[in-house]
Amino acid sequence: MSPRPSPTGETLAVTSSRRGSGSALAPALVASATFAATDPAGAARSATSRRPVDFYTRLGNPTVQAFADAVAELEGAEAGMAFSSGMGAVTSTVLSLCSQGDHIVAQRQLFTSTAMLFAAVCPRFGIEVTFVDAVDTEALVAAVRPGRTTLVFVETPSNPTMEIVDLAAVGGLRGPITVVDSTFATPLGQRPLDHGVDLVIHSATKALSGHNDATLGVAVGDTDLVDHIWGYSVIHGACASPFDSWNGLRGLKTLGVRLERQSANALRIARWLEDRPEVERVLYPGLASHPQADLASAQMESGGGCLSFVLTGGTRAAGSFMDALELVLLAPSLGGTETLANHPASMTHAALTPEERAEQGIADGMVRLSVGVESVEDLLADLETALAAIGG
Ligand SMILES: Cc1ncc(COP(=O)(O)O)c(C=O)c1O
Repeated sequence: MSPRPSPTGETLAVTSSRRGSGSALAPALVASATFAATDPAGAARSATSRRPVDFYTRLGNPTVQAFADAVAELEGAEAGMAFSSGMGAVTSTVLSLCSQGDHIVAQRQLFTSTAMLFAAVCPRFGIEVTFVDAVDTEALVAAVRPGRTTLVFVETPSNPTMEIVDLAAVGGLRGPITVVDSTFATPLGQRPLDHGVDLVIHSATKALSGHNDATLGVAVGDTDLVDHIWGYSVIHGACASPFDSWNGLRGLKTLGVRLERQSANALRIARWLEDRPEVERVLYPGLASHPQADLASAQMESGGGCLSFVLTGGTRAAGSFMDALELVLLAPSLGGTETLANHPASMTHAALTPEERAEQGIADGMVRLSVGVESVEDLLADLETALAAIGG
C-alpha cells in the first residue's frame, strides 16, 4: 500500500480538535477549576511539573490545553498555550520574554491595544521600544540592535490597514525572539513558523473560534519558549476559560470552509468596491492593486476575510454609510460568521489622536469589513444601499 499523503491544514482543522478525546467526536468540556490527586506524591508531581493539566486550571486544564495543542498542530509548532484573550497572549508573551533594559522592535501599525502595550506599558518597566515601518524590510533589519534587541513583534496582515510584512525577513533575523500576530491570516492562510519565525500569536476570539462566542488567545512555538511563557503567565493570570476553549475547539473544525467562503466573499466585495465612485481606495491582500500583492500571494494561501476601504467623503460619508447598513452589523471584532463593519476612527482606534491615526495610515473615511459567510449577493445589496445613502 502506498503511504498516505500528510493531511492538509483543512483536514487537520477537523481532526486536531479531537486529539485525545478517545472515541468521542466532540471533545470533553472539563470545567473543573481544580483537580484531586490520588496521593501526596501525585499532588507533588502535578504541582512541580510544567504545564500540568490536572492540578489547578490557572496552571493548565485538559480542554484549554486541547485547544492550544490543536492550534499548535495547525501552525506546525511543538507546543502551544491558550490565554483569556488575544491581548492576554500578547501581554503575557512580551512581559515573560522581556526585562528592564531590554530593547524591542515593534511594527508601527499594530492592533491598538498591542501598540499601547509597546508605547505606554513597556517603557514604564524600563523596556525600550523602537517602532518601525515593518513593510520596509531594510528598516526592520536596521532597527535590530545586535546583542541588545530581545524581541521583534509584527502583525501581518495588519489591523486595519492590511499591510503585509515579509515573514521570511522576520524569520531570518538572528538574535531576537521573533513574534508574529497572525490573527488576520489564520493558520490556514499562512504559517509563520515555516519561515523561521519563533512564536505565533492569535486572537482566537476571531477566526479560530469563528462564531463570536469565545474570548480567547493562543501562542505557539518551541516547547522551551512556551514553557518559559507559561512560567510567567501563571503569575500574570490571563488563563483561558475551559468553556471558551471548548467553543474554540468546535470552531476550529469549520475553519477551512469558513475561510474559503469568507475569502471568496471578501474578494468579490473588494473588487466591487474598487469600481465604486464613493470609494477612494480598497485595501485587500487578494487584490492585484494591493501595494504588496506579490508578497501576499507568495506567503498567503488566500486574501482572508477582512478588507478595509476609504470613502472619499471622510468622516461624514463613513457616518452615513455605517448608519444605513442593515445586514452588516456595526461591531468590533472580525473573523466570525457574521459580516461586521468597523469605523476605526470612531470605534477601535478612537483612543488615538488624529495625528496618531494619520501616522498609522487610518483615514477618517476608512471602514473595515470583516466579511462573514452570508450570501455575497445579500451583502452586496446591503453595501449598495449604504453607499447610496452617502448622497452627494
Ligand atoms: C490583530 C489582533 N491582535 C490581537 C487582538 C486582541 O485580541 P482580543 O480582543 O482577543 O484580546 C486583536 C483584536 O481585535 C487583533 O485584531
